[in-house]
Amino acid sequence: MFELKERDGLARICELTTKHGKVTTPVLLPVINPNFLTITPAEMKDRLGVKMLITNSYIIRSSDQLREKALANGVHSVLGFDGPVMTDSGTFQDYVYGDVKVDPDEIVKFQSAIGSDIGTILDIFSEPGFTREQVEKAVEETVRRGRSAAPLRGDMLLAGTVQGGTHPDLRQRCAEELSALDLQVHPIGGVVPLLENYRFADIANIIIASKKGLNPSRPVHLFGAGHPMVFPLAVLLGCDMFDSASYAKYAREERMMFPTGTKFLRDLHDLTCHCPACSRTSIKDLIERPREERTKMIAEHNLHVCLGELRNVRNAIHENSIWELVEMRARAHPALLDALKVLAKHKDYLERSEPATRKGAFFYCGPESYDRPAVQRYQERYFTRYRKPNTKVLVGFEEAEKTYAKTYAKEISQIAEKVDASFVVSTFFGPVPIELDEYYPIAQSLIPNELDACVKDRMHGTMERHAHSHGYPLAVMWEGEETLKFLVEMVPSAPRKFDLDMLKCRAVLDMQFGKGAGDLMDMGEARFVKSERTGKIKNVLIDEKHVLSMRARDGRFTLKLEGARLLMKILPNPHMRVVVEDEPAEFAAKGNNVFAKFVRECDPDVRPGDDVIVVNTKNELAAVGRALMNREEMLAFKRGIAVRVKDSPD
Ligand code: GUN
Ligand code: ZN
Repeated sequence: MFELKERDGLARICELTTKHGKVTTPVLLPVINPNFLTITPAEMKDRLGVKMLITNSYIIRSSDQLREKALANGVHSVLGFDGPVMTDSGTFQDYVYGDVKVDPDEIVKFQSAIGSDIGTILDIFSEPGFTREQVEKAVEETVRRGRSAAPLRGDMLLAGTVQGGTHPDLRQRCAEELSALDLQVHPIGGVVPLLENYRFADIANIIIASKKGLNPSRPVHLFGAGHPMVFPLAVLLGCDMFDSASYAKYAREERMMFPTGTKFLRDLHDLTCHCPACSRTSIKDLIERPREERTKMIAEHNLHVCLGELRNVRNAIHENSIWELVEMRARAHPALLDALKVLAKHKDYLERSEPATRKGAFFYCGPESYDRPAVQRYQERYFTRYRKPNTKVLVGFEEAEKTYAKTYAKEISQIAEKVDASFVVSTFFGPVPIELDEYYPIAQSLIPNELDACVKDRMHGTMERHAHSHGYPLAVMWEGEETLKFLVEMVPSAPRKFDLDMLKCRAVLDMQFGKGAGDLMDMGEARFVKSERTGKIKNVLIDEKHVLSMRARDGRFTLKLEGARLLMKILPNPHMRVVVEDEPAEFAAKGNNVFAKFVRECDPDVRPGDDVIVVNTKNELAAVGRALMNREEMLAFKRGIAVRVKDSPD
């Protein structure tokens, strides 16, 4: 029903299967009011490339003519649209006009009867101004209605809306209770008044709390979010579907939407947009048109802009730059910057979906970039997984051009000739041992030379933590020849050969697979195969068996089957394991990918993109491969690949 195709953290490109075909998410569903067509569904499909619509079953049911037609020929025929159609239930009308008199089960049966692809329960709109008691009641009644409606859905997918006002605990509880029911889609509701007032920080909190409670294999719809300003942020937090009546509503008020905000037509000096609607006109022509034509052209523009921004978002997921897009877009409005600050408070949660590595570089967009999960992960692993080499002296270098080992090659060999030392660089990401200078995201990052004061402060804090915990009896910052003289006087011990390759393998193993994994290098005679062109490690052999390959792209290891055999001896079960039912495990051993529905257990430390060990229920090695999901997702998804198998016995 819902299959993960590509991802960047919680942001994902999925395929949603409905009775009327498949759609790719993130997707925008324009709202069609069948009484009031600004742009017809046929035009939307043909001219704008709209893939899916949403309309209101309560409005259809309230009109004798529409109701009869819908019951006789189906909702698709009423709209003149043969793609997937979602229907809403009247909750919003009840919130706005307060006079919705329909039985909650009846309206679900009606939606099924008119052939809706996705129907919606009659949830209770939890208003931001409600008292906690009122919100609690709304949640309770919403869940009760979801439970009652689930058996009535027939072959229709049913959407159970998460309510809970601005209370994170109630949102999460509502989400958990709805996840236990036979529901297929989860809208997040009650957010329209927050969207209208640019309360994006509240929205971010609400989405995160809801996502925490939701089954990760179900699509999440943000109800009433139809402004492109919120798409990147909402998708980053895991929203898959949006609906918009705003495109038409704003058009009636002569307001034009842009990814960076909204402008009244009368305030514009020129039309800067390249969309097909704007390309056909000019500001003067647009203003002089009859009102109805103008409204329609602005509505088309608004839809084009919304659809275009979602294309941007999907591209960003595809190229793994969703954080960069969100941070850049956040410059458009201080309220979006406030929402970014909210994400910083949920780093632990976001880190669980953060990919092990990205296709592109870590691109610094501002001080907020310091709060990305990639930074958090590096620091956390450095402080908990990295084991210092067995030397007594640490020499620190200032940030410099990457890669650091190359930049400081002269100094390192000069020092290593005389002193048995280790080396660390103080960087944006924190302390980087010289042997980790090619590890993602260190080498794959673009950081400005001049950093903001608040970032410098935080980097300083991290280096302080390092100073207190590094465990070297002697640590100095490199200040030139003087430092070397000082070291020679202080440590008369004989120099030892500085073996960067060995240090690198140990450190990357610990950082990537867990503390202790680096001991793999001592399990036999180690030999390296290096690239003739770059001199970099390509393959690692232990007792002439190929155990690891190092990727030049991100300085991480690809695990080979023989490497997994050794790692399993060092890392206790369930570490880095994905446990698969016995028969599918045999299948994986023949080189086939592991589907999520066959996963029985998974190490909670596995992240999307990690190299993992596939075992059967008896912890017997079946294959190695790349995880595409974290544990929660592997256990929840019923479709799609959990592990792409890379090496297997057959
Ligand atoms: N449309 C906008 N907000 C909501 C909501 O909270 N529930 C439903 N069912 N529809 C909506
Ligand atoms: Zn335009």
